[in-house]
Amino acid sequence: MQVGFIGTGLMGLPMAQKLVEAEIDLIAYNRTLEKLEPLQKAGVRIAQQPLEAIIGSDCIILMLTNASAIRSLLLSEDIKQHLAEKTVIQMSTIAPTESIAIAKDIIAAGGEYLEAPVLGSIPEAQSGKLIVMVGSTEAQFERWQALLQNFGAKPLLIGEVGAASAIKLALNQLIASLSTAFALSLGFVERQGADVDIFMQILRQSALYAPTFDKKLQRMRDRNYSNPNFPTKHLLKDTELFINEAQGEGMNISSIEGVKKILEIAITSGFADADYSSLFSAIAPDCEV
Ligand SMILES: NC(=O)c1ccc[n+]([C@@H]2O[C@H](COP(=O)([O-])OP(=O)(O)OC[C@H]3O[C@@H](n4cnc5c(N)ncnc54)[C@H](OP(=O)(O)O)[C@@H]3O)[C@@H](O)[C@H]2O)c1
Repeated sequence: MQVGFIGTGLMGLPMAQKLVEAEIDLIAYNRTLEKLEPLQKAGVRIAQQPLEAIIGSDCIILMLTNASAIRSLLLSEDIKQHLAEKTVIQMSTIAPTESIAIAKDIIAAGGEYLEAPVLGSIPEAQSGKLIVMVGSTEAQFERWQALLQNFGAKPLLIGEVGAASAIKLALNQLIASLSTAFALSLGFVERQGADVDIFMQILRQSALYAPTFDKKLQRMRDRNYSNPNFPTKHLLKDTELFINEAQGEGMNISSIEGVKKILEIAITSGFADADYSSLFSAIAPDCEV
């Protein structure tokens, strides 16, 4: 079996490297060719054009920014004719409606489509401990489970296409909202001159605690947002996707709209490519601390 891997950014690269470790026959494409160097050094064939990663592959894994990148790479007239009898495994974070629409277009081109978004970031991608959420038929899940196990030991069949994307967006809404809520309390404690260590001790013992708080605590205290695992611009993208979908469901989205504004401020402050903990600086600007 040959696997085409398209999109070797922050997450795609370590995920492709797990397939290399498993000695899977791989051909990789990325728009920015330099990002393919580690794979090339590991002996992976490099596609100069997306089509090269599609022709000859039984399955094409996508780890791209968003639906428009997926469409531009896979669904142009000259490329989509080559999707017949191929399986596309779409692992980027996109909206359920986008995933369903892309599935329809791939099926119309004679191909098969699974969505398999992931929870976890670069460390989990490197260690093969991502939570892989699959939207597909049972037969597709059975067929591709072993391949997906390279990314996380227990891929979960969530339901039909759209269902896994919905759960992924719901989880990322929590990342955005929990991190914003924590940053607001942390900034408040700092500005009030109260003891942050005591605040954290109490928080850790309480039902309010979420492990993500400690993951981001030091970055926020140091205002160090370099070497991101998950950039602010992608959290804003997911927040906007969530808002669109939730609005479509007739929900009150006021709380997440506030989070969106904070993320927008972080981005206009120059933190688009920095770690999303930069939202702390949007909430508690640097000037007075
Ligand atoms: N980072 C995380 O912790 C994390 C965790 C779970 C899920 N995700 C999701 O996984 C996906 C990838 O995230 P990432 O963190 O790996 O982001 P990233 O480093 O920004 O990678 C994005 C990839 O998409 C490619 N791309 C974007 N627009 C393109 C276009 N118009 N044409 C061709 N290629 C294009 C980029 O190519 P270039 O290299 O040429 O820019 C790169 O390969 C996103 O949907 C993200 O939300 C991320």
